[in-house]
Amino acid sequence: MFRYLKFGDLPSMHHTAHYAGDRLLYEYCFTREGFEEPYSILYLYHPPTGDRECQRFPAPEWAQPVPRRAPLLQRRHFRSECLAPAGDFISGRTILAYNDHLHYGLCHPQKETPFFFANNDADELFFLYEGEVELQSLFGRLTLNAGDYCLLPRSCPYRFRFSRPPGLMWVEARKGLEIPSNYCQPNGQLAMDAPYSERSFKTPAWDEELFRGEEATLIVRKRQGGFTQTEYSKNYFKMSGWDGYVYPFAINLADIQPKTGRVHLPPSSHLTFAGGRFAVMSFLPRVLDFDPKAVPCPFYHSSVSCDELLFYFSGNFTSRRGIGRGSISYHPSGIPHGPHPGAYKDSIGLKDTQEMAVMVDTYDPLFLTEAGQSLEDADYATSWRED
Ligand SMILES: [Fe+2]
Repeated sequence: MFRYLKFGDLPSMHHTAHYAGDRLLYEYCFTREGFEEPYSILYLYHPPTGDRECQRFPAPEWAQPVPRRAPLLQRRHFRSECLAPAGDFISGRTILAYNDHLHYGLCHPQKETPFFFANNDADELFFLYEGEVELQSLFGRLTLNAGDYCLLPRSCPYRFRFSRPPGLMWVEARKGLEIPSNYCQPNGQLAMDAPYSERSFKTPAWDEELFRGEEATLIVRKRQGGFTQTEYSKNYFKMSGWDGYVYPFAINLADIQPKTGRVHLPPSSHLTFAGGRFAVMSFLPRVLDFDPKAVPCPFYHSSVSCDELLFYFSGNFTSRRGIGRGSISYHPSGIPHGPHPGAYKDSIGLKDTQEMAVMVDTYDPLFLTEAGQSLEDADYATSWRED
């Protein structure tokens, strides 16, 4: 979604007849925001309208999250390791929190599926924290490794391939998700002071199996919470090539540059992606604040207009008790939080940190779900007590 890609055999001018031998191919424009935003153009062997059968697909539980009734306003801790792999990459999802702009949860599939999924409600962000996943999509193949973010544009059919069940954090960005505009120069190139460059990103590779095969295709699409499965008698993905600016892409935490200041920098300094009414930040291994009197631990704070979800990926999370790899802390708007007792003082003089974590801050309150309750650590809210 940030630079031009081109694959395979394309006509020299868009919207003109294109042939594979003497066979006329079908131009398919995959756009965003009508025709005013970035787009890609594919040249398909079969019209993408060639559906043979369309029927309702059983909606998984997460499609209509059930809000928890009047939960206490307090700090919370979810343990992702309590969620056993189950189902496939559609059914094996759990939503922990949501509002009108995003749904936040986990995806722990047990088994692969032959069919594809397209989320017509939202861009999707995955963060792979366990295992390895081969993403197959309309735009090609992308290998995801632990520590990778992957952004999928809305309505893009895809599926996951894996040899052992992976663990993914997952966000439905209902108003979109992008590289922050202040990281881009007017001509679209990433600015020199952005935390990544064009080279930092993984983009799809040509998928010979998918783009040249003859298998019939089944795509499950989600729209307004309903699920529809559409069967195509031909290979929906068979194509001569595509080009454009819309496609899934990935970036690993290790390929993002951290920022360090003389004293502690606010979380917004670690911004990675900007969503509609929410932001994604990455906390990375770095040299800590270098003023001799600096307190490297985060200062106590109440972010009075943001709910905060922090996924702990790796490192030693010394500022928080009971937190480990796969933990998710939830700190609602206006509730003070910060280091656990002792950690604040102990951080003075520390030179570096190896912590890696992914934070989602929402600008509107989140609803907690019934489904997330079983993952909660009941002792977390009172773990700051000093008596
Ligand atoms: Fe915070």
